[in-house]
Amino acid sequence: MPSRINPSILAADFANLERELGRIRTADLVHVDIMDNHFVPNLTFGPPVVSRLAQVSPLPFDVHLMIDNPERWAPGYAEAGAFSVTFHAEATTNPVGLARKLRSIGARAGIALKPGTAVEPYLELLPEFDQVLVMTVEPGFGGQSFMPSTMRKLKTLSETVRKSGLDVWLQVDGGITEETIAIAAEAGADTFVAGSSVFNAADPAAQIARLRAAADEHRHAH
Ligand code: DX5
Ligand code: ZN
Repeated sequence: MPSRINPSILAADFANLERELGRIRTADLVHVDIMDNHFVPNLTFGPPVVSRLAQVSPLPFDVHLMIDNPERWAPGYAEAGAFSVTFHAEATTNPVGLARKLRSIGARAGIALKPGTAVEPYLELLPEFDQVLVMTVEPGFGGQSFMPSTMRKLKTLSETVRKSGLDVWLQVDGGITEETIAIAAEAGADTFVAGSSVFNAADPAAQIARLRAAADEHRHAH
């Protein structure tokens, strides 16, 4: 399975989102960062904007909810047709209930971990999820530097997923460049979010191809 590259439109030109979506059509999914100025100290967009963008996007949406009270909002993104909806472990006391709800609507369910959140309590919940997002920066802003300290969690996850035979995608998000994508691929990631490295490139499609090639080169054949 080739590595998946999901550009984050947080780094796109917000005055031209339809055009920006067209520039990344060779990617796998569009990563959409939802921030509420409570769970993180930043604010982006909400359901009406995401629903409308989904109508004009050539690719399906990988929604990343950096919000409090995901029980209230996550199902709406699934109903709007998101391919996957990922909420933060730190924001809910009932991750399994919410994952089941999302899957029942037809979306893939993802759980995200901030850099300081341990992965061990979530390992036994993996059958309930289609994706785990290991944050490689503190959530809230694009353009930050990749934190190599988060790779230990990814190794634990990839070993657990491999031994269990489950089909859970392992996603990294934050500071992904041609250099850091190799480190994350080596540690077991298969799905890579990249904001500024894609949208700041002169040719986003060429950058997507370079990122995918770098990841493929460093992934282990399990
Ligand atoms: C950060 C967001 C990321 C962000 C990544 O809180 O979750 O998706 O857009 O941006 P870069 O790739 O610039 O670090
Ligand atoms: Zn994100």
